[in-house]
Amino acid sequence: MTAKILDGNALAQKLRTDFKTRAEALAARGTRPGLAVILVGEDAASQVYVRNKVNACAQAGFHSEKITYTPDVDPRVVLEKIAELNADPKIHGILVQLPLPKHFDSDAVLRAIAPEKDVDGFHAENVGALMQGQPRFIPCTPYGIMKFFAEAGIDLKGKEAVVLGRSNIVGKPMAMLLMQASATVTVCHSQTRDLAFHTRRADVLVAALGKARFVTAEMVKPGAVVIDVGINRLPDGKLCGDVDFAAVSEVAAWITPVPGGVGPMTITMLLANTLEAAERGTR
Ligand code: GUN
Repeated sequence: MTAKILDGNALAQKLRTDFKTRAEALAARGTRPGLAVILVGEDAASQVYVRNKVNACAQAGFHSEKITYTPDVDPRVVLEKIAELNADPKIHGILVQLPLPKHFDSDAVLRAIAPEKDVDGFHAENVGALMQGQPRFIPCTPYGIMKFFAEAGIDLKGKEAVVLGRSNIVGKPMAMLLMQASATVTVCHSQTRDLAFHTRRADVLVAALGKARFVTAEMVKPGAVVIDVGINRLPDGKLCGDVDFAAVSEVAAWITPVPGGVGPMTITMLLANTLEAAERGTR
């Protein structure tokens, strides 16, 4: 079997064209969707992600502001900035790029964001709302993955879904969304015994563990849908995912490539959430 590709660039392009039209309509009524992105420190990957987010805003006709701090900044300075952005009518979405330096209480920073501007969906109130099946904002990466399933007509009802990774950013919200779509969900993590036992049962496998080419063909059920959230840099400088793409493509029915799979969709759903926040403000 040679898997069909879930093309993140193509789906992102399609969605972003619609967002641009909606943003123009909103701007004509006096509201340009606005996103503020806060970056603390000099992590190279975070700098690239933040730059991509700001560029995506410009292309979609959104207003954006990038606020950067040195890694030794006093957390109170960041909290004051968040308070200012909470009150700024030009800003509909606020995102604090994670991870934050060790001297930060990340939960406290996320809780300082006004829940109605929390376009990452990481504020405790929004996490709770998602858990109750009433999400205000769906976290961008799992949201983008759900769009892949919808676009490809993949029905999750009754499917065995296995999520590798239990992070607040991907694993936990992903599991919640799959469960709400009536899949039977297993979450595996670093302490899971016999991981391959679980992955081989998966009709839908989401790999978000941050280990280059960890998922091999032997770990995948023939005909599975394989979603690769990993972005790992190989010694030769090339990017690769958590899945051995070449080998797993021969086993799976559907697969996301890296790059060009989940990555572009994550940024696209950030635009979706920011646009949604701006539209809600005008209703
Ligand atoms: N770091 C890695 N992924 C994300 C994300 O989706 N949002 C934020 N804020 N930080 C991240």
